[in-house]
Amino acid sequence: MGAPLTVNASRLLRRLDELGRLGGAPDGGVSRLALSDEDKLGRDRLVAWMNEIGLDVRIDQVGNLLGFRAGESDEAPVLFGSHLDSVRAGGRYDGAYGVLAALEVLQTLQEGGVRTRRPLLMAAFTNEEGARYAPDMQGSLAFVGDLSVDEALAVTGFDGSNFGEELRRIGYAGDFPCASVRPYACVELHIEQGPVLEKEGICIGAVEAIIGISWQEVTLRGAANHAGTTPMDLRRDAGLAAARIAAYLRDLAAELGPDQRATCGMIAFRPNVINVIPGEARLSVDLRNPDEAVLRQAEQRLAAFIQRVAAEERVEAETRRLVYVAPARCDPDVVAVIEAAAASLGLSCRRMTSGAGHDAQILARRFPTAMIFIPSRGGVSHSPAEYSSPDDLAAGANVLLQTVLKLAL
Ligand code: GLV
Ligand code: MN
Ligand code: MN
Repeated sequence: MGAPLTVNASRLLRRLDELGRLGGAPDGGVSRLALSDEDKLGRDRLVAWMNEIGLDVRIDQVGNLLGFRAGESDEAPVLFGSHLDSVRAGGRYDGAYGVLAALEVLQTLQEGGVRTRRPLLMAAFTNEEGARYAPDMQGSLAFVGDLSVDEALAVTGFDGSNFGEELRRIGYAGDFPCASVRPYACVELHIEQGPVLEKEGICIGAVEAIIGISWQEVTLRGAANHAGTTPMDLRRDAGLAAARIAAYLRDLAAELGPDQRATCGMIAFRPNVINVIPGEARLSVDLRNPDEAVLRQAEQRLAAFIQRVAAEERVEAETRRLVYVAPARCDPDVVAVIEAAAASLGLSCRRMTSGAGHDAQILARRFPTAMIFIPSRGGVSHSPAEYSSPDDLAAGANVLLQTVLKLAL
């Protein structure tokens, strides 16, 4: 048996650098919000690379970028990829790594003259992050048919922009129909974004479960009034109510155990003036748990607390659901293929649960799906400090290559 085919790691790293400069900041961070000018630059670059290696490039109705490579048969394709968009001031690996590694795998197969029985399909899904438009995983939701194209195009962003208009503006409103491809299996390669692999000195994570996510927006309406003349007991302070809810999230997580996460990432006061009691406040709540029953319990406890605070502070409270994505189980057979691929390369591997959301958890609803993780330095992600070592980046791409070969041959 000869040495296994391996990717061109320096080309992968070079492209990661190049893509990281599109929307990049001097501190190494990246802001490539979905459908922004920076996202357009990233997409343009990726499409050029996809065309260079001879893929059949299609853009679907919600802007997902798809690159098909024919197989010896026209059976269902093996899909692999991730997303190009980032959070604001995020890192250069989240999403981009999985997309560029997919491209690298395909180029390696082209150069090696390797034909697979099944067709291969690389994908860069639109708006995985949800940092500009909710829901997150918007492109993959439309890809599997769980979000209609009309609903997707109608979404209003946190910045007031319209998804459909922005998609047209950047030139990525395609016509390839959503929900028209039924992959045989799906694989997403991603940085772990957490501390487990690094702490345990393990190279590869085979992801067998993905956390459930609940996003809500809470709006509180009180009465704006003078900060100096209004006695404390006569206030209807929407800002204070919001702050109490934000602080409660820590207690809520403590009540529900170590797997519960609870975060307030956005908060805004109106009129937002130093000497005015806020008349209105709006905050976001991100709740996560791998156990759906506990996640539902977290939502119920939060709702009860919001009612209590509204009564005590004499404000009106309104809650709007932005996202509910149930925890996902990965396909045991695809997980086993990933483990076998890592073993065939002599790489250490462990099974794990993802605490981040991923397109893979949407794909997993319909198609056999699993994920490959590599270590994140310090467990840091959604931050300019996000980093994974060149050796780990190369190892993950090689595991993806072997996994795809095993699934498609
Ligand atoms: C996306 O990265 C998320 O987990 O929110
Ligand atoms: Mn990601
Ligand atoms: Mn992310």
